[in-house]
Amino acid sequence: MTNTNTEFKWNRKHLIGLQELSAQEIEFILDTAKGFEQVSTRSVKKAPTLRGKVVVNMFFEDSTRTRISFGLAASRLSADVVEFTKKSSSVSKGESLIDTAMNLEAMGIDTVVVRHSAGGAPKLLTQCINACVINAGDGYHEHPTQGLLDVYTMREKKGSLKGQKVAIVGDIAHSRVARSNIWALTKLGAEVTLVGPPTLMPAKVHELPVKVCYDLDEVIEEIDIINMLRIQFERMGGSPFPSVREYQRFFGLTVDRMKRAKSDIVVMHPGPINRGVEIESEVADGANSVILEQVSNGLAIRMAVLYLVNQAAANESKSK
Ligand code: CP
Repeated sequence: MTNTNTEFKWNRKHLIGLQELSAQEIEFILDTAKGFEQVSTRSVKKAPTLRGKVVVNMFFEDSTRTRISFGLAASRLSADVVEFTKKSSSVSKGESLIDTAMNLEAMGIDTVVVRHSAGGAPKLLTQCINACVINAGDGYHEHPTQGLLDVYTMREKKGSLKGQKVAIVGDIAHSRVARSNIWALTKLGAEVTLVGPPTLMPAKVHELPVKVCYDLDEVIEEIDIINMLRIQFERMGGSPFPSVREYQRFFGLTVDRMKRAKSDIVVMHPGPINRGVEIESEVADGANSVILEQVSNGLAIRMAVLYLVNQAAANESKSK
């Protein structure tokens, strides 16, 4: 693993969100991830970096990409990986998040990767246990490793993000992915526009460092990168738009709309996709789509984050 930036010293043993990181810290993670990319191309996909360490995947919400990616990343760094699920644990008997984490820590874990429906759950854990805590998505708050893998993919496609016009489209209100993207992108100098119906914009949207637009056709011709968000039907009480067909007509990334976009527009989606709702299949699987590259890049990002937080924890214990 190589990171040519030898002057910067990473000292965070938790990753809770991108809002609190500086541009330099974000770039340091991206550069560290670049160094880890080659581990996944070896015939034996292993590095000894975290040998003897234990990582617990503590997911209180369902996940395919994030959970498997963290598990693979930890195992490629030679850590022992423990899978915790809400359904098969004593949480179903009423045990609290904090008691659960304290009991896991008593078994000698080093890192907790946590996904929870409550915004703030990972931060709370940092106050109750000594292990490193990595947020794998908390409520509507943040999904920092998704934000990092998104800007990593954008940087690979466009070089510097300075001045790049990025549209984040759709269900902004319920999206922790949108929040982590907004912080990372604006810190790295991109111009971010949020696009969607007023009913899917968060409260206080005008306090965010972004432009807001309620009509995708107004901006489609000028944007360099478009990140389509999943409509999170499971988080909604009623329907925020009259019909799915109506939503797709005004905000869906369709083949027709793509004809008006720049020829080198980068098309992204964090997954899972509602095909035919926020994006047409021909576009999701088309030449401009980097959706599966995002998933591949997630591995290097998560290896970098696991490595950096454990390094910071080792430095902290050395200095005590
Ligand atoms: N992008 C993302 O967080 O996907 P999963 O819910 O499958 O982890």
